[in-house]
Amino acid sequence: MSERLAGRIALVTGSTSGIGKGVALGFAREGAKVVVTGRREELGRRTVAEIKAEGGEAAFCRADIALKEDVLALSRFVGDTYGGLDVLVNNAAPAARARAEDGSLADSSEDLWDDLYNTNLRGACLVSKYVMPFLIKSGRGSVINIASIHALRGTGWDAYSMIKGSIVALTRSMAVGYSGDHVRVNCVCPGLVRIERNVDLEQEGASFAKTLRRHLTPPGQPEHIAHFCTYLASDESEYVTGSIFSIDGGANAKWGE
Ligand SMILES: NC(=O)c1ccc[n+]([C@@H]2O[C@H](COP(=O)([O-])OP(=O)(O)OC[C@H]3O[C@@H](n4cnc5c(N)ncnc54)[C@H](OP(=O)(O)O)[C@@H]3O)[C@@H](O)[C@H]2O)c1
Repeated sequence: MSERLAGRIALVTGSTSGIGKGVALGFAREGAKVVVTGRREELGRRTVAEIKAEGGEAAFCRADIALKEDVLALSRFVGDTYGGLDVLVNNAAPAARARAEDGSLADSSEDLWDDLYNTNLRGACLVSKYVMPFLIKSGRGSVINIASIHALRGTGWDAYSMIKGSIVALTRSMAVGYSGDHVRVNCVCPGLVRIERNVDLEQEGASFAKTLRRHLTPPGQPEHIAHFCTYLASDESEYVTGSIFSIDGGANAKWGE
């Protein structure tokens, strides 16, 4: 185990599965103590068990980040368990639902818009707001917001794009606002990343075949996002804030299909 994040405490929202789980595992492998969170308790405890089996340190706190009382309890858990926080990854989103239901405004439901807003955007704001005192106290706080290529390219997923675009704008604004507190804020925009629920991407039909053709590489893995988040969490990126990074196999670089 190397030690790029030794002595750091990290909170990764939505680390019960997918990219968030990959980031939690990646941080722990670099020596961070990790708070794992999400609503699915069994999966959260499994992430912690996997981290501990590799010799890392982690703890699970169940929280629905759309609920203020859960976010306040999560913040208390961070303080009680590890006594502070250096890194926050705002990753949680109703990603599976967006993938199944999003489309044009006419075709998607207001309920989906509300879920995306309440979890992905307002949830990220709530968590940031209530753990910010820890990040400021750290003196080397790093916030990493997970957006998407949908924030940068028109894809026809209207509600998801609206929320992810807002996360990009929020990142720049927070970076300015918290610069005096030595809290850096950056944003990662992944392309298509293969996770547990979309492991069979090639079988997903026409819209995914089109997305895959936009990439210059095979689909990403959670580890690819984790490696970049590790850089943003560490001192190696101390000169980096307010930046938006496409980690997307070249999908944002390509004109047309
Ligand atoms: N996979 C991709 O191709 C891709 C590409 C670009 C961007 N992204 C972004 O990457 C992030 C992770 O998505 P993923 O693809 O890894 O999907 P995922 O496995 O479904 O992860 C979503 C995570 O968010 C959590 N979550 C959802 N609603 C929540 C709530 N109300 N409160 C707390 N946690 C909640 C889920 O945990 P619980 O269900 O346990 O609550 C889960 O851990 C999302 O922001 C997504 O938009 C993914």
